[in-house]
Amino acid sequence: MIESLTPEQRCAALEHIAAEVRACTKCPLHAAGRTRAVPGDGDCAAEVMFIGEGPGFHEDQQGLPFVGPSGKLLDELLSMIGMRRSQVFITNVVKCRPPENRDPLPEEIATCTQAYLHRQIALIAPKVIVTLGRFSMALFFPNAKISQIHGRARWENGRAYLPLYHPAAVLRNMETLKPQMEADFRKIPQLLAEWASRQSASAAADAPPEQLTLF
Ligand code: URA
Ligand code: SF4
Repeated sequence: MIESLTPEQRCAALEHIAAEVRACTKCPLHAAGRTRAVPGDGDCAAEVMFIGEGPGFHEDQQGLPFVGPSGKLLDELLSMIGMRRSQVFITNVVKCRPPENRDPLPEEIATCTQAYLHRQIALIAPKVIVTLGRFSMALFFPNAKISQIHGRARWENGRAYLPLYHPAAVLRNMETLKPQMEADFRKIPQLLAEWASRQSASAAADAPPEQLTLF
């Protein structure tokens, strides 16, 4: 059971996945000009997990997620809600850079997410999953249009899924999308608060009746 893992075991399991990613040859992206694979980075017990699309030029050079211009915007948005990068976990749908930043192919997405992303989610067990861009959104909101559902969370099994625009899309259209992205980002602390009140509501509902008569 993942719930019974100690924090040290959780981090060790995530580091094990990261080592697998760095040596991975499961899909053609491993030989398509990858410099470094990018497993993901952050707190192994993060309450909030961000899932982007795939490494770009800077990420491929450094082996770290969101370290280029999109990452700067992400840092700025995080600080707007009083959070730091080290408190969250940031990763991508595919862990190796697609050549010329082309879209990841369905086959690459299926292979990589089955091998790694779903295991990372299970280990981190975040309260809120934030998808960045349409490929990440499509994993949890099939057939949705990002222009229609961005900023609207869905709850499932006690976890919130929040679809947001990709920071690169915001950078291309700052005037329109930056204010929307900021408003959407402010939902993150709201969802964490809602998570806590849902927990206490369901704990109260689960409490045996005789316990309630004690008061
Ligand atoms: N864009 C992404 O989708 N992921 C990164 O890690 C960087 C840029
Ligand atoms: Fe492996 Fe994912 Fe990289 Fe493909 S993109 S080689 S599945 S780590």
